[in-house]
Amino acid sequence: MTNCGRYCCQVMAIVKAISRPLWTKSRKKITMSNVGVIGLGYVGLTTALGLASLGHTVTGYDTDHNLIHKLSEGDVLIHEEGLQSALEELSSLSRVRFIRKASEFLGADVEFFFICVPTPQSQTGHADLRFVFSAIKELSAVASKNSVIVLKSSVPFGAGARLVSALARPDVFVASSPEFLREGSALRDFMNPDRILVGSESESASRRVLGLFDGLDAPKIVTTKEATELIKYSSNAYLAMRLSFVNDLAHLCEKTGVSFRHVAEGMGTDSRIGSEFLSPGPGWGGSCFPKDTSALLSVASEFGVSLPLVEATVRANSQAIYRSVETIRQLAGGSLLGKTIGVWGLAFKAGTDDIRESPALKVIGQLLGEGCEVKAYDPVATAALGEGYRQVNSALEAVAGAHVLAVLTEWQEFAEIIPSCVADAMAVSNIFDARGILPANLWKPAVESLRSTGEG
Ligand code: UDX
Repeated sequence: MTNCGRYCCQVMAIVKAISRPLWTKSRKKITMSNVGVIGLGYVGLTTALGLASLGHTVTGYDTDHNLIHKLSEGDVLIHEEGLQSALEELSSLSRVRFIRKASEFLGADVEFFFICVPTPQSQTGHADLRFVFSAIKELSAVASKNSVIVLKSSVPFGAGARLVSALARPDVFVASSPEFLREGSALRDFMNPDRILVGSESESASRRVLGLFDGLDAPKIVTTKEATELIKYSSNAYLAMRLSFVNDLAHLCEKTGVSFRHVAEGMGTDSRIGSEFLSPGPGWGGSCFPKDTSALLSVASEFGVSLPLVEATVRANSQAIYRSVETIRQLAGGSLLGKTIGVWGLAFKAGTDDIRESPALKVIGQLLGEGCEVKAYDPVATAALGEGYRQVNSALEAVAGAHVLAVLTEWQEFAEIIPSCVADAMAVSNIFDARGILPANLWKPAVESLRSTGEG
């Protein structure tokens, strides 16, 4: 058998060996490439393992030496489904390795460098690009001729041009390929993308980048760097706008006594609306929506354009968080002073341990400000919130003696808890299910029966 044939068998064996339920689609044969990934957080590590699972040889680099040590030992430090098993498989097949210094890229004949470093929001609302510029500077010294630097990190409109001049390597191409990964399902989203987007001044460089993803059957779009930047920010701002609308509508349903579940079902069956992203919450959060809505507003203001709907989306989200506090206050009898509130959920959404910009923490912060005690439980996330706050180790411990239970993150385990166990533990059975995940057919009777016996 020829080397190529042996190699293609190896690639197919890799994809077959690691294609667990997470990765359900068959893959075409691909041309293997050497890829470098800079920044190994949830986007970077997912990108590194995703590209390796497609058959490429991947070298991951991060300035956090402890992280590199752990990854080289086969340990994933973040809570993301499928990453641990993928790391174990791909490391054993020598498809992925990790380095401590960018200089180790020299001589590795890397053709593509993915920049996946954080672009946190600065005080002014603009994206802070210092990590991106630092990565570009390091690559300027080690990138091989004719290689392509691919920006995965969200960068503001027009930043690509500044990065090209900072790179100062006319023999190296720069492309932008924003990620659309959701925390909690990042690897699944990588292997099953709705689209793959690449923008660059050089169409051939864009085509080369797209070639890396030949194994994935998804629409592949080649456009300009600026367009990819606007697509990323606009997609997230649009999703956030949808959620602000959902949360406002859920509030109206609560006041009118109409089941929001029924309204969402009736709306979602319209193919133009779709049934995803119609679940209410105490507000939306995470490391992307708040940052990307703010970044889009910053871009617009730089060009003298107002985006009233995006502005209203952000305002409505603050309102949703305030309304959640107001609902809990009402359930506690009109004042939170001296009351005990049991909270289920700290993470900004289920499936992750990430508490960045978590609406649950924003609600808890406002509750504590009104003088109540908060006992919170989350299956994986942790948070230390100071006086009056205690994180406990079980859902029932969080409600023991509580006046109100607030469900703020949609972990499935909360929906599986037996209502009577909760009702028995609580001082009063007042429940605010901000996520609408508790089965109404079980919880409504349980709470009402206690209320009717005067215990609730
Ligand atoms: C988002 C985008 O979805 C993703 O495409 C982009 O690459 C990164 O930002 P992420 O922030 O990980 O992903 O989470 P997402 O699932 O979008 O949820 C964002 C917020 O919206 C969370 O607080 C979540 O709880 C909330 N949400 C989401 C709802 O309240 N209801 C929903 O139906 C969906």
